Amino acid sequence: DRARRLSEIDARHAAACPHCLAATGHTRLVFGEGAAHAELMFVGEAPGDAEDRMGRPFLGAAGEKLDEMIKAMGLSREKVYIASILKSRTPDDRTPMPEEVAACGPFLMEQILAVRPKVIVTLGGPAAKWICGTDVGISRIRGTWQQWTPPAGADCPAIPVMPTYHPSYVLRTYTKQVRMEVWSDLRAVLAKLGLSPAAPAQPR
Ligand code: URA
Repeated sequence: DRARRLSEIDARHAAACPHCLAATGHTRLVFGEGAAHAELMFVGEAPGDAEDRMGRPFLGAAGEKLDEMIKAMGLSREKVYIASILKSRTPDDRTPMPEEVAACGPFLMEQILAVRPKVIVTLGGPAAKWICGTDVGISRIRGTWQQWTPPAGADCPAIPVMPTYHPSYVLRTYTKQVRMEVWSDLRAVLAKLGLSPAAPAQPR
Protein backbone atom coordinates (compact mmCIF):
# COMPACT_ATOMS: atom_id res chain seq x y z
CA ASP A 1 0.00 0.00 0.00
CA ARG A 2 0.96 3.67 -0.27
CA ALA A 3 2.15 4.16 3.32
CA ARG A 4 4.41 1.13 3.10
CA ARG A 5 5.75 2.31 -0.25
CA LEU A 6 6.54 5.72 1.28
CA SER A 7 8.49 4.24 4.18
CA GLU A 8 10.39 2.06 1.74
CA ILE A 9 11.33 5.17 -0.30
CA ASP A 10 12.27 6.99 2.92
CA ALA A 11 14.66 4.19 3.94
CA ARG A 12 16.16 3.90 0.46
CA HIS A 13 16.60 7.67 0.23
CA ALA A 14 18.40 7.79 3.58
CA ALA A 15 20.72 4.98 2.51
CA ALA A 16 21.39 6.09 -1.04
CA CYS A 17 20.58 9.72 -1.93
CA PRO A 18 23.74 10.98 -3.67
CA HIS A 19 22.99 14.53 -2.57
CA CYS A 20 22.00 13.96 1.05
CA LEU A 21 24.83 11.48 1.71
CA ALA A 22 27.39 14.06 0.53
CA ALA A 23 25.68 17.13 2.06
CA THR A 24 27.28 18.73 5.11
CA GLY A 25 24.92 21.57 6.02
CA HIS A 26 22.38 19.51 7.93
CA THR A 27 21.86 17.34 10.99
CA ARG A 28 18.72 15.43 10.03
CA LEU A 29 16.94 14.41 6.87
CA VAL A 30 13.41 15.68 6.29
CA PHE A 31 11.62 13.16 4.13
CA GLY A 32 8.12 14.65 4.25
CA GLU A 33 4.90 13.66 5.97
CA GLY A 34 1.15 13.53 5.74
CA ALA A 35 -1.60 11.34 4.40
CA ALA A 36 -0.36 8.58 2.12
CA HIS A 37 -3.65 8.92 0.18
CA ALA A 38 -3.64 12.74 0.14
CA GLU A 39 -5.48 14.40 -2.74
CA LEU A 40 -3.30 17.46 -2.30
CA MET A 41 0.50 17.57 -2.06
CA PHE A 42 2.61 20.60 -1.23
CA VAL A 43 6.19 20.74 -2.47
CA GLY A 44 8.57 23.22 -0.83
CA GLU A 45 12.23 23.99 -1.30
CA ALA A 46 14.50 22.57 1.42
CA PRO A 47 14.39 22.17 5.21
CA GLY A 48 15.39 25.15 7.34
CA ASP A 49 16.74 25.32 10.87
CA ALA A 50 13.67 24.09 12.80
CA GLU A 51 12.93 21.37 10.25
CA ASP A 52 16.55 20.23 10.34
CA ARG A 53 16.45 19.91 14.13
CA MET A 54 13.12 18.04 14.21
CA GLY A 55 13.26 16.03 11.00
CA ARG A 56 9.80 17.27 9.95
CA PRO A 57 8.81 19.63 7.11
CA PHE A 58 7.60 23.22 7.57
CA LEU A 59 7.88 23.80 11.32
CA GLY A 60 9.30 27.34 11.57
CA ALA A 61 7.63 30.63 10.69
CA ALA A 62 7.08 29.45 7.11
CA GLY A 63 5.47 26.34 8.55
CA GLU A 64 3.03 28.39 10.59
CA LYS A 65 2.13 30.34 7.49
CA LEU A 66 1.63 27.11 5.55
CA ASP A 67 -0.56 25.77 8.38
CA GLU A 68 -2.68 28.92 8.11
CA MET A 69 -3.02 28.43 4.37
CA ILE A 70 -4.03 24.78 4.80
CA LYS A 71 -6.54 25.68 7.50
CA ALA A 72 -8.09 28.43 5.40
CA MET A 73 -8.60 25.80 2.71
CA GLY A 74 -10.68 23.83 5.20
CA LEU A 75 -7.99 21.15 5.36
CA SER A 76 -5.44 20.02 7.93
CA ARG A 77 -1.87 18.79 7.80
CA GLU A 78 -3.11 15.26 8.43
CA LYS A 79 -5.18 15.37 5.24
CA VAL A 80 -2.47 16.62 2.88
CA TYR A 81 1.09 15.51 2.10
CA ILE A 82 4.04 17.89 2.52
CA ALA A 83 7.51 17.43 1.06
CA SER A 84 10.34 19.51 -0.37
CA ILE A 85 12.61 19.15 -3.37
CA LEU A 86 15.67 18.71 -1.13
CA LYS A 87 15.52 16.54 1.96
CA SER A 88 18.53 18.09 3.67
CA ARG A 89 19.18 21.66 4.74
CA THR A 90 21.54 23.60 2.48
CA PRO A 91 24.59 25.45 3.85
CA ASP A 92 23.46 28.94 4.93
CA ASP A 93 19.97 28.05 3.68
CA ARG A 94 20.96 28.98 0.17
CA THR A 95 18.76 28.11 -2.79
CA PRO A 96 19.18 24.49 -3.93
CA MET A 97 21.59 24.11 -6.84
CA PRO A 98 20.48 22.31 -10.01
CA GLU A 99 22.84 19.39 -9.40
CA GLU A 100 21.50 18.96 -5.85
CA VAL A 101 17.95 18.90 -7.12
CA ALA A 102 18.95 16.47 -9.87
CA ALA A 103 20.41 14.10 -7.25
CA CYS A 104 17.71 14.30 -4.56
CA GLY A 105 14.73 15.02 -6.82
CA PRO A 106 14.20 11.47 -8.12
CA PHE A 107 13.19 10.44 -4.60
CA LEU A 108 10.56 13.18 -4.53
CA MET A 109 9.38 11.89 -7.88
CA GLU A 110 8.92 8.46 -6.30
CA GLN A 111 7.05 10.07 -3.41
CA ILE A 112 4.66 11.76 -5.82
CA LEU A 113 4.13 8.46 -7.63
CA ALA A 114 3.41 6.74 -4.30
CA VAL A 115 0.92 9.34 -3.04
CA ARG A 116 -0.59 10.06 -6.46
CA PRO A 117 -2.21 13.32 -5.39
CA LYS A 118 -4.93 14.88 -7.55
CA VAL A 119 -3.21 18.26 -7.36
CA ILE A 120 0.30 19.46 -6.49
CA VAL A 121 0.92 22.94 -5.10
CA THR A 122 4.52 24.07 -5.52
CA LEU A 123 5.79 26.64 -3.02
CA GLY A 124 8.32 29.10 -4.43
CA GLY A 125 10.44 29.33 -7.55
CA PRO A 126 12.76 26.32 -7.29
CA ALA A 127 9.90 23.86 -6.67
CA ALA A 128 7.85 25.32 -9.54
CA LYS A 129 10.81 25.16 -11.91
CA TRP A 130 11.65 21.58 -11.12
CA ILE A 131 8.16 20.15 -10.89
CA CYS A 132 6.89 21.96 -14.00
CA GLY A 133 10.14 21.62 -15.94
CA THR A 134 10.25 25.32 -16.77
CA ASP A 135 12.52 28.31 -16.35
CA VAL A 136 9.68 30.81 -16.05
CA GLY A 137 10.00 32.90 -12.88
CA ILE A 138 7.58 32.38 -10.01
CA SER A 139 5.84 35.75 -10.28
CA ARG A 140 4.91 34.95 -13.88
CA ILE A 141 3.99 31.31 -13.48
CA ARG A 142 2.06 31.48 -10.20
CA GLY A 143 -1.66 31.20 -10.46
CA THR A 144 -1.50 29.38 -13.79
CA TRP A 145 -2.22 25.65 -14.06
CA GLN A 146 0.80 23.59 -14.99
CA GLN A 147 1.44 19.86 -15.13
CA TRP A 148 3.77 17.37 -13.58
CA THR A 149 4.64 14.76 -16.16
CA PRO A 150 5.54 11.40 -14.64
CA PRO A 151 8.66 9.63 -15.93
CA ALA A 152 8.12 7.43 -18.99
CA GLY A 153 6.68 4.05 -18.09
CA ALA A 154 5.26 5.17 -14.74
CA ASP A 155 1.70 4.00 -14.14
CA CYS A 156 0.45 7.48 -13.28
CA PRO A 157 -1.37 10.19 -15.21
CA ALA A 158 0.00 13.74 -15.50
CA ILE A 159 -0.88 15.67 -12.34
CA PRO A 160 -2.17 19.28 -12.38
CA VAL A 161 0.20 21.69 -10.61
CA MET A 162 -0.61 25.10 -9.15
CA PRO A 163 2.55 27.09 -8.49
CA THR A 164 2.27 29.70 -5.75
CA TYR A 165 4.66 31.78 -3.67
CA HIS A 166 6.67 30.21 -0.87
CA PRO A 167 5.23 31.02 2.59
CA SER A 168 8.65 32.53 3.50
CA TYR A 169 8.23 34.97 0.62
CA VAL A 170 4.72 35.83 1.82
CA LEU A 171 6.19 36.61 5.26
CA ARG A 172 9.02 38.68 3.80
CA THR A 173 6.74 40.54 1.40
CA TYR A 174 3.73 40.94 3.59
CA THR A 175 1.51 42.94 1.25
CA LYS A 176 -2.18 42.61 0.63
CA GLN A 177 -1.40 41.97 -3.04
CA VAL A 178 0.81 38.93 -2.36
CA ARG A 179 -1.59 37.48 0.18
CA MET A 180 -4.51 37.89 -2.21
CA GLU A 181 -2.57 36.22 -4.98
CA VAL A 182 -1.72 33.22 -2.82
CA TRP A 183 -5.31 32.91 -1.67
CA SER A 184 -6.54 33.10 -5.24
CA ASP A 185 -4.11 30.28 -6.18
CA LEU A 186 -5.35 28.15 -3.29
CA ARG A 187 -8.98 28.79 -4.17
CA ALA A 188 -8.29 27.57 -7.70
CA VAL A 189 -6.89 24.39 -6.14
CA LEU A 190 -10.00 23.92 -4.00
CA ALA A 191 -12.21 24.37 -7.07
CA LYS A 192 -10.18 21.75 -8.94
CA LEU A 193 -10.63 19.35 -6.00
CA GLY A 194 -14.34 20.16 -5.71
CA LEU A 195 -13.91 21.54 -2.19
CA SER A 196 -14.97 24.79 -0.52
CA PRO A 197 -12.79 27.01 1.65
CA ALA A 198 -13.26 27.25 5.39
CA ALA A 199 -14.85 30.46 6.67
CA PRO A 200 -13.59 33.10 7.29
CA ALA A 201 -11.88 32.58 3.99
CA GLN A 202 -8.81 34.71 3.46
CA PRO A 203 -5.74 33.92 5.56
CA ARG A 204 -4.12 37.01 7.07
N1 URA B 1 10.76 25.49 3.75
C1 URA B 1 10.68 24.55 2.78
O1 URA B 1 10.65 24.87 1.61
N2 URA B 1 10.63 23.28 3.13
C2 URA B 1 10.63 22.86 4.42
O2 URA B 1 10.54 21.67 4.67
C3 URA B 1 10.69 23.86 5.41
C4 URA B 1 10.77 25.16 5.06
